[in-house]
Amino acid sequence: MSPLIDRHGRTKRKLRISLTDRCNFRCTYCMPEHPDWLPRASLLERHEIVRLAGLFVDHGIDQIRLTGGEPLLRRDLTECVRAIDALRERGLSRLSMTTNASRIAPKARELVQAGIDDFNVSLDAIDPDTFRRLTRREIAPVLDGIAALADAGATIKLNAVVVRGDNHEDVVPLLEWAMARGLSLRFIEYMPLDAPGQWKRDAVFSEAEMLAAIAGSHHVEALPRGSDPATPYRVDGRYPLGIISTVSNPFCATCDRLRITATGELFTCLFSPIGTPLGARLREGIDDATLAAQVARAVWLKDAGYASRPGPVDRPLTMHAMGG
Ligand code: GTP
Ligand code: 5AD
Ligand code: SF4
Repeated sequence: MSPLIDRHGRTKRKLRISLTDRCNFRCTYCMPEHPDWLPRASLLERHEIVRLAGLFVDHGIDQIRLTGGEPLLRRDLTECVRAIDALRERGLSRLSMTTNASRIAPKARELVQAGIDDFNVSLDAIDPDTFRRLTRREIAPVLDGIAALADAGATIKLNAVVVRGDNHEDVVPLLEWAMARGLSLRFIEYMPLDAPGQWKRDAVFSEAEMLAAIAGSHHVEALPRGSDPATPYRVDGRYPLGIISTVSNPFCATCDRLRITATGELFTCLFSPIGTPLGARLREGIDDATLAAQVARAVWLKDAGYASRPGPVDRPLTMHAMGG
């Protein structure tokens, strides 16, 4: 079936599916301390998730990333993973998960066996006080989760959002911690997608500033950029570091991504003000051909991206409900 292409000529290969807007963490750059959760009945059921995932795979999506909120809060998580894993015979080649890892330890092996190829774990600081200030939670269960994933033989990448004044002084300690353990790490510029109103341009600790901080004690060289959102670097001649610099150096021109929220809204860009309510259409009884046509149209109309209109997005959904 025909691939999904937008009017800027970008073919879509990656889909992020948010399994729930709920999260047991409260990262300040993501959500308020007391969030209003979406009504439970509005969250997609497993069969709806699998139907949507299958439709996208039939139209050229070959990489799916499960996100949240926190995917581990979904009770039928393993069943969701198994059902999506079965889409490999229709063309899925990679199934990933983004998690805060705090609840993953008892499930690490089960999730790997169910079909998760790789895990991105949010770890914004290695200093426990700094970690607590950013996430409003403790670091110990996260470190246990990372250790359990490693024991289960999982492929892991660490993600650290860097917010000036909160954790920018932890950039080098976190890098050295990850290097010592051979864990991949990506630093992420703080994007204007937090709980409404907090983000300020000044709070963005830019890629250039991160590089300058690291260069104080390490040798850093730039590598050629691929299709990954992260710009690749090599530290001390051996360690691969990535920096996702949406604010100072957006990768919109090569964006091959789509995302579905926990209620089944299709957002063609992280910065789109509105989505296409596929979940609601499913519940009205839409047939596959009409659904596919609506998806193709929404994808075709995809915005140029952050580069074309930088700054905060005027919409009620914050990151935990968007799926990051
Ligand atoms: P892989 O590249 O497949 O490993 O995953 P990823 O980097 O897309 O996933 P992850 O969930 O680890 O996200 C890392 C950071 O990239 C987060 O801050 C995301 O919000 C950001 N990100 C993910 N998708 C997009 C996107 O479409 N646009 C922008 N600007 N940022 C994105
Ligand atoms: N800016 C950058 N990254 C963010 N994330 C959540 N909110 C923001 C933001 N405002 C990241 C999380 C996680 C991923 C899914 O998105 O840290 O790694
Ligand atoms: Fe939860 Fe992830 Fe948002 Fe942190 S960034 S509050 S771990 S959804």
